[in-house]
Amino acid sequence: IKDIKGGADGGLSNVGQTFTVSGWVRTVRSQKSFAFIEVSDGSTLAGLQVVLDPKTTEGYSLVEESQIHTGAAVRAMGELVASPGGKQKVEIQAISLTLLGPCDPGTYPLQKKRHTLEFLRGIAHLRPRTNTIGAVMRVRSALAMATHTFFQSQGFQLLHTPVVSASDCEGAGEMLQVTTMMSTAMRGGSADAKAAANVVKTDQTGPGPSLPVDESGGIDHSEDFFGRPTFLTVSGQLNAEAYACALGRVYTFGPTFRAENSNTSRHLAEFWMIEPEIAFADLDEDISWAEAYVKHCLQHVLETCSEDLELFEKFYQKGLTNRLQRLSSTPFVRITYTEAVDVLAKSEKAFEFPVTWGADLQSEHERYLTEVAYEGIPVFVTNYPKDIKAFYMKLNEDGQTVAAADMLVPGVGELIGGSQREDRVEVLERRMKECGLNCEEYWWYMDLRRYGSVPHAGFGLGFERFVQFVTGMENIRDVIPFPRYPGHCDF
Ligand code: 4AD
Ligand code: MG
Repeated sequence: IKDIKGGADGGLSNVGQTFTVSGWVRTVRSQKSFAFIEVSDGSTLAGLQVVLDPKTTEGYSLVEESQIHTGAAVRAMGELVASPGGKQKVEIQAISLTLLGPCDPGTYPLQKKRHTLEFLRGIAHLRPRTNTIGAVMRVRSALAMATHTFFQSQGFQLLHTPVVSASDCEGAGEMLQVTTMMSTAMRGGSADAKAAANVVKTDQTGPGPSLPVDESGGIDHSEDFFGRPTFLTVSGQLNAEAYACALGRVYTFGPTFRAENSNTSRHLAEFWMIEPEIAFADLDEDISWAEAYVKHCLQHVLETCSEDLELFEKFYQKGLTNRLQRLSSTPFVRITYTEAVDVLAKSEKAFEFPVTWGADLQSEHERYLTEVAYEGIPVFVTNYPKDIKAFYMKLNEDGQTVAAADMLVPGVGELIGGSQREDRVEVLERRMKECGLNCEEYWWYMDLRRYGSVPHAGFGLGFERFVQFVTGMENIRDVIPFPRYPGHCDF
């Protein structure tokens, strides 16, 4: 349907050609001499009207027998004609109609009326057929495309970092643990399993922690498959650093997991993150990359998703398109944490959480800064106190702050967290001890500082928060196909 109706003239240049449309019925209207069905195939927001004529449409009996309902899958073939009605520019004059998959109107949960987003979350397998979720997922896909075109065109290599991890990158202790369900054969140590275990064992070099081994020389599977506790990764950053310190510029785009028990509209237990890591870059360059990347994506969505943006504008956020347009060309604000605390302390607003130097910014503070203090412009807050940030951030000369930068955006708050990385092995070791981390566990990470250490920096952008920002959707659960959050993993 996108191909048929595409182009500035809404499909008029395709009039006279024959097309086949396959999709799902949105609405059916029967009149005395004609029937009309609106078919959607998900490629566009608005579907395509198919006109059925009892005299000329083969398969018209389906309408007479009342077999075509909302939700049914159909295929229609016919000629594209200019539509006499004002609603759409073109429509299909059907030569034939085929019912591919019927749909029982008595039990189909999606009706023509507007459903609440909360109701739709309960039918996550069917909600992509609604206008809103369809539009969200097309914008999501466009943002993914823009992500890849931006980084690939700037000489970044896409890096696939592991999902299963032994280390807690953020040191926040909010990890989902991996457990194994092993067959008896594996438990008993089949030849294959033992061979695999031996490969792992003999490959292990360096001063890393040794794996527990059983009497037969293989990994003790009854203890743990990997020989140590493992978790779903909270971030691919540490692995990305290793590759940036070899390939120069890399980026990851993968699922990450956090067991934080925050039932908010901005947190998920499983979310996607884009993590660029750049060798030879300092914090300023890092921030410039983040700003250029976000702007590139805004421009791409403005260029390719205007129909979907109109829906968000109409139902969810007035002025959205203008705002995105403005942001795609306005310089973002850069202030230090100390300046941010100052701005907040001087504001008239009564915050729930007090603002004092040394305390982490709460989401009410973040949103005030970008929405009120800087009038809707995204804000980079830099140089946070070391005690509220992760161990790997480069310690500034003041000994109190780190070279970190969070990007705050209206409606969402923190969209990006990034930093220059600590590249001095002694300073890193000291910071890790301060943070209660075991340096030996991170031996490979320390190696990167021992062998050809270079300044490097990177950031992580929460993809779902980005989709929220661009669509104006209030709840993060509505911008990921199948959301996972505390108590919810149904689909
Ligand atoms: O600020 P965070 O924790 O930073 C990191 O993970 C770094 N390792 C990134 C890096 O420097 N490579 O997370 C980065 C971003 C946040 O700014 C936020 O947008 C998103 O990830 N995020 C979440 N999104 C949804 N649900 C959650 N529970 C999230 N936690 C973080
Ligand atoms: Mg953060």
